[in-house]
Amino acid sequence: APAAAQPTAAAPSGAAASGEPIPIGIAVAQTSNVALFGQEQVAGAQVAEQYFNQKGGVNGRPIKLILQDTGGDEAGAINAFNTLINNYKVVGIVGPTLSQQAFAADPIADKAGVPVIAPSNTAKGIPQIGDYIARISAPVSAVAPNAVKAALNINPNIKKVVVLFAQNDAFSKSETVVFQQTVTNTFKLDLLGVQTFQTTDTDFTTQATFVLGANPDMVIISGLAADSGNLVKQLRDLGYKGVIVGGNGLNTPNLFPVCKSACDGILVAQAYSYQSESDVNKAFREAFKAKQNKEPGQFSGQAFTAVQVFVEALAALDKQSPIASADLAQLRTALNKQILAGTYDTPLGAISFTPEGDINQKQFYVAQVKMSPDGTSGAFEFIK
Ligand code: ALA
Repeated sequence: APAAAQPTAAAPSGAAASGEPIPIGIAVAQTSNVALFGQEQVAGAQVAEQYFNQKGGVNGRPIKLILQDTGGDEAGAINAFNTLINNYKVVGIVGPTLSQQAFAADPIADKAGVPVIAPSNTAKGIPQIGDYIARISAPVSAVAPNAVKAALNINPNIKKVVVLFAQNDAFSKSETVVFQQTVTNTFKLDLLGVQTFQTTDTDFTTQATFVLGANPDMVIISGLAADSGNLVKQLRDLGYKGVIVGGNGLNTPNLFPVCKSACDGILVAQAYSYQSESDVNKAFREAFKAKQNKEPGQFSGQAFTAVQVFVEALAALDKQSPIASADLAQLRTALNKQILAGTYDTPLGAISFTPEGDINQKQFYVAQVKMSPDGTSGAFEFIK
């Protein structure tokens, strides 16, 4: 038999796992424009695989991540789900990256009785897709208002707002509703206009011209990373000087090469902070930095957490009745029940699930993008 891998210096104490690995599907966007999120998710999930296997896996048995690229569209997500469920016999799936993909692919897993933990789907209605669908990505209603609140704390003179969103994306459409309600109902600001774009757009002259004409104190953008980054850049290039708030799609360091120095100052709410003081986050952060040479962002922290929930739910289930002797359909169903029943001490803090599978999470953050003057490097700086 091959020798067991030696734990690294960062490894937790306890024997490494051995034996037949338990397959967990990772169905995220490794290619397409959505890979700006998906690559971060793969990195976070792989740190979790290594970390939990070094810690003993599932009561001594290792997990094995099976990666299936979804690309950026619905068809890719459906293919990845079918392959993981039918060919690789995974016990459950972490994915897909976009809510837009989840509304198409999750019903397949639900029908097949395969538990899904959404690592980044924040649109309204994701857990309600079915009994087997849960998420560790807090919904837009819990996260987005924090960024507007922070913008007003920093600049109390903000009165006039323009909101922009990607109209071909389920998450962006859901998030903009929350932003618009926060602007008009919560803070009684003056919403001067709403502009739409497509996630595939690269030319934002129309939208930027509207913004400059309206002359708002703040714009709020709901889109994915490449589109939003180009929109920010063209707004600044055309001379917009006001505050920019970004939604969850701007919540990745992979935004920085798109808008470069124009990214500076963007405010984004976060469901994860690498500065979080828990032991599990310190271990995750250290292991992530050792592999990636940078701080983990929200998409990585959430992907780690999704894998962690699978590992801990599997371990709890195995203690009740050994999972090795269960047939796959029974195991998937029992695992789904156990996921929803558990509480988990994760990099996102202590979390649990509502009966429908939405996350219970207490702590949220807001960060501001800080770019180097030449625009070649940047960071999210957390606001106190
Ligand atoms: N938060 C984004 C979505 O749900 C990535 O689609």
